[in-house]
Amino acid sequence: MKVTNIADGIYQLSINVENILFEGFWEIPNGVSLNSYIIKGLKTAIIDGVCGWDGVPDTLFGLIEQLDIAPESIEYLIVNHMEPDHSGWIEAFKKINPDCKIVCSKKAKDLLNSFFGITENIIVVGENDTLDLGNGHLLNFVEIPNVHWPDTIAELDTLTGTLFTCDAFGSFGKITSSVYADMLSEEDLALHEKETTRYYSNVLAYFSMQVKKAVAKCQALPVKMIAPGHGLIYRNPKEIMDAYLKYADYQKGPAREEITLIWGSMYGMTENAVNYVIKQLQKEDILVHVHQVPKESWGTVLASAWTSTGIILAMPTYEFKMYPPMASVLEELGKKKVNGRKAFRFGSYGWSGGAQKELDEIMTRLNMGWEFIEPVEFTGNPGAKDLERVGEQVKKLVEEVKNAVRG
Ligand code: FEO
Repeated sequence: MKVTNIADGIYQLSINVENILFEGFWEIPNGVSLNSYIIKGLKTAIIDGVCGWDGVPDTLFGLIEQLDIAPESIEYLIVNHMEPDHSGWIEAFKKINPDCKIVCSKKAKDLLNSFFGITENIIVVGENDTLDLGNGHLLNFVEIPNVHWPDTIAELDTLTGTLFTCDAFGSFGKITSSVYADMLSEEDLALHEKETTRYYSNVLAYFSMQVKKAVAKCQALPVKMIAPGHGLIYRNPKEIMDAYLKYADYQKGPAREEITLIWGSMYGMTENAVNYVIKQLQKEDILVHVHQVPKESWGTVLASAWTSTGIILAMPTYEFKMYPPMASVLEELGKKKVNGRKAFRFGSYGWSGGAQKELDEIMTRLNMGWEFIEPVEFTGNPGAKDLERVGEQVKKLVEEVKNAVRG
């Protein structure tokens, strides 16, 4: 729980949340921060909330008290986005400050009613609307729909050039040493980058087209600092804007010069070939992520697949179809639009194949557009010749990935 004065009259209130599943199912091994902001002009506004994950707003009220602000004196509550990680405290807040005006988009207004039955004291804002808090703090609103929900808005404090973006430009990971990205050590920065791609792939990937539009809109504003609802503050806005554009481009592939190997095995026969492939890939000059399903969570596999141009799938046939945990993960990758990858599949079968048929069906139905090189299947344990064939195909894939990325 932390309060930081980030600009003239602007304070960040932030808490770290751990040991939860984000949105109820995304594993976040390094936690996530929830950031709220207070702007003190002649009038005081609070932007978004930082409720505890159980919806209890004590944490937020504790942070406000540190600023010597009585919650009941806050005139405006700006709701950038109604997902309950930001809005879950509103009902409790309205109980102690019923006169506070809620500033939000038209779509958020509807959600205020359906979530909390709040229908009054709402100011609906849209593109280019303004709110004057006094002392120079004039807020200029922009609509950034679907980053993350259709209701999402952002606002620029024209006095300080601070852009409050809620989910946009956010990241997973706890805030530890500093609230500013530019203050991190090289090691912390590398972890932060990883957590940003995990966040992007898990939360925003599906909306990559809208992300690009939102970034273009933000690029046109005189932004000096980006203050998101999750993660670190950027005093070099170009850095995170460029990064987000890159992440959005990964949707259609090619992405980075990386390969994600996703594998599953029932009795170790496919695994024997996987071990051979891992050793082979270690000799190649390429970054490789290895994930076993169903042991690894969807979110972890997705984060790697999002940045990888190449995907290797290794799984046996199961009851004339694909090994079920692999099918589940592929469905999720398809729904998040991990498209246009270079790919290779191998695996064992007992009395009959069938994995390929299901793989083709998933690829077609979800319009994933992966380009597969010829698969390798073997009965039971892979023999020396099978391993040799698998190895040749892996080599081919590595070349294809390099060619795709380097152009
Ligand atoms: Fe951080 Fe879409 O809520």
